[in-house]
Amino acid sequence: MQQMWTDIDTYIDSHLIPEDPILTQTLKHTEERGFPDHLAVAPNQGMLLQMLIQMNKCKRVLELGTFAAYSTMWLARALPEDGYILTIEGRDTHAALGQENIDRANLAQTIELKCGRAADILRSLPDDTEAFDFIFIDADKQSYPEYLELSLKLSHSGTIIVLDNVIRAGEILNPENHKPSIEGIRDMFRAMQNHPRLLSSTALQTIGSKGHDGFAIAIVK
Ligand code: DHB
Ligand code: MG
Repeated sequence: MQQMWTDIDTYIDSHLIPEDPILTQTLKHTEERGFPDHLAVAPNQGMLLQMLIQMNKCKRVLELGTFAAYSTMWLARALPEDGYILTIEGRDTHAALGQENIDRANLAQTIELKCGRAADILRSLPDDTEAFDFIFIDADKQSYPEYLELSLKLSHSGTIIVLDNVIRAGEILNPENHKPSIEGIRDMFRAMQNHPRLLSSTALQTIGSKGHDGFAIAIVK
């Protein structure tokens, strides 16, 4: 089935996702530097993130897990001139690559990349940090419950939170799988269930060029 899923994503992309030299250059540079592309969002998912930002006229965006900054660029494209993205990456090698891609795309004015453990960086933000309008959680899955709580502290009523990779080819249902990443996702689902600070939440499975996975989405009350 994987080949068909990939072919259909190619079909969707060729019809609905316009070529963008900046995004193409970012993927090419990432590959040239020897990094795998499976961590990056699929183009049609990048477009969905962009559209969520546009629909809600978001200006301040927080991203946890930059990797090559490919998703960050999708987020940036949706922002007005005075938009701002804080993106946090835990691995030095990924942060260096992400910063290179941001600089090459001339987006350093809009995108601030911080390198370090996301939870530590979020806790060390000044008390008067303005809340974010859109939050994309895509870092280590083990820490998703913690990232959700920290994100809520930096949210206002109406903030949208998207959490990537919450299905993992169905491994969340495999009773034998106790990997910290999978347990982290299960704990996230439990935390989102009837969460007092969330207005509504759902999750969608996705199949496509990145296999079988999915994302969760929530609106802050
Ligand atoms: C992995 C992480 C991601 O954020 C993703 O989108 C795909 C895969 C991973 O850790 O394997
Ligand atoms: Mg991801």
